[in-house]
Amino acid sequence: MNPTILLTKNVLKSSNFFTALVCGKARHNLRNACTKVPTLKMNNGCEMPALGLGTWGATEDYKWIEKLDTSKAPATGRTKPEEMVDAMKCAFDIGYRHVDTAFLYKNEKQIGQAIKAKIEDKTLKREDVFLVTKLWNNFHDPKDVRCACEKSLENLCLSYIDLYLMHTPMGVKRTDDLYDFAPVDKDCKPLFTDTDYVCTWQAMEKLVEDCLCKSIGICNFNLKQLKRLIKKAKIVPQVLQMECHPYLTQKELCAYCKCENIIITAYSPLGSPSRPWAEIAKKHKKTPAQVLIRYPIELGYSTIPQSGKSVEFMKQNFDAINFKLCPEDVECLDKLNADMRFFKFSGAAGHPHHPFETKK
Ligand SMILES: NC(=O)c1ccc[n+]([C@@H]2O[C@H](COP(=O)([O-])OP(=O)(O)OC[C@H]3O[C@@H](n4cnc5c(N)ncnc54)[C@H](OP(=O)(O)O)[C@@H]3O)[C@@H](O)[C@H]2O)c1
Repeated sequence: MNPTILLTKNVLKSSNFFTALVCGKARHNLRNACTKVPTLKMNNGCEMPALGLGTWGATEDYKWIEKLDTSKAPATGRTKPEEMVDAMKCAFDIGYRHVDTAFLYKNEKQIGQAIKAKIEDKTLKREDVFLVTKLWNNFHDPKDVRCACEKSLENLCLSYIDLYLMHTPMGVKRTDDLYDFAPVDKDCKPLFTDTDYVCTWQAMEKLVEDCLCKSIGICNFNLKQLKRLIKKAKIVPQVLQMECHPYLTQKELCAYCKCENIIITAYSPLGSPSRPWAEIAKKHKKTPAQVLIRYPIELGYSTIPQSGKSVEFMKQNFDAINFKLCPEDVECLDKLNADMRFFKFSGAAGHPHHPFETKK
C-alpha cells in the first residue's frame, strides 16, 4: 500500500472532491491569501512561494509512473485529467500560487485553462502565478530541448514558464511520438541514451536567454552530478527538486545547495508510512500532514504537497503556513532519517546517469 495512504488515511477522512467544491467553496481574498505564503529568493533574484501545489495525479500518467518505480501505489484517489481544471481553480481560490506540473503529468493543458480562466475573471494576474514544469527524459538531446519547452508553453497557453526543471539526469531515446516517455526496443529493453545532462542543461540556459523561462533547475540529481553540472554551467541551477521528508532528509545534498545558493523543493513531503510526528501535531493542534508540510518550510526549502481529490486536504495543507515548529520539533524529525526513498526510478535501472544507484 502507498505509504502516504497508510499515513494519511489514519489521520483525516478525505471529503468528496465535487461535494466540497459545491458546498464548501469559501472564497478567499486572492491577493491577501497570496501575500501570506513566505517566499524564497532564488540566486537570480526572482522569488518563489515556499508552498506550492503538487499536481502529479492524472490517472493515465500514473500508470506510466508505476513503471518507473517499484513502490506500487494504487491509482485511486488521484485527480483525473478532466477534474484538473476545477481542482486548480479551487487551489487558486484557497490561495495557492506556486503550481508544480510536468510534461510527463499530461495535465499542463488543464492547468493552463484554469490559469486563463482566473486571469479572465480578474482574480489573478499572470505574474501572481509561479508555474513550474519539467523537461522529460525523451527531450534530453540539446536539439530537442527548445521544442519540449515550446510544447509545454503551448499546452499551458503561456508565453513564459517561471521555473523549468530537468526532470531527471537520465535521457531516453526520442521517438516520433512526443508522449512516448519510456521507449523500448523489440525485446522490451529500455532505450536509454547517454546524452550528457550538462549538454541538456546548456540548451536549457539558452531558454532563459530567449525569455522562454525565467528560472531553470533540476530534479533528482545526486551530489556528484550536481557538482559536475555546476562546474560546467553558465547558470547555477536556481532550484533542485528532490524527494525530501523525515525518512529521507538528504542533509549533505541540502548543505551543498545552501552553499551554492540553490533552493530545495521537497517533493513527496507526505510520503512516510508511520506517524512519529503525531505527538508534535497534537502539541500544535495541527494534523500530522501539516507538521510534515511545515517541516521543509522550517528548513528553508519550498514544498509541493499534492492533495489528491480532497479540497479539505488542499485547504489544510495551505494552512501549514500559519504555524511554526520549534527547533526541538525540527531536531526530532531530522533524527528520523533512514535514507529511505519512495521514488527509486527502478524502471531506469542500469542507466549510465542513474542518480540513485550509487551512494553519491
Ligand atoms: N520531480 C519529481 O521527480 C517528482 C516526483 C514525485 C513528486 N513530484 C511532485 O511532488 C508532488 C507531491 O508529491 P506526491 O504527489 O508524491 O505525494 P505527497 O504530496 O507526499 O502526498 C500526496 C498524498 O497525500 C495525501 N494527503 C494530502 N494532503 C493530506 C492531508 N492534509 N491529510 C492527509 N493526507 C493528505 C493524499 O492521499 P490520498 O489521495 O490517498 O487521499 C495525497 O494524494 C507531486 O504531486 C509532484 O508535483 C515530483
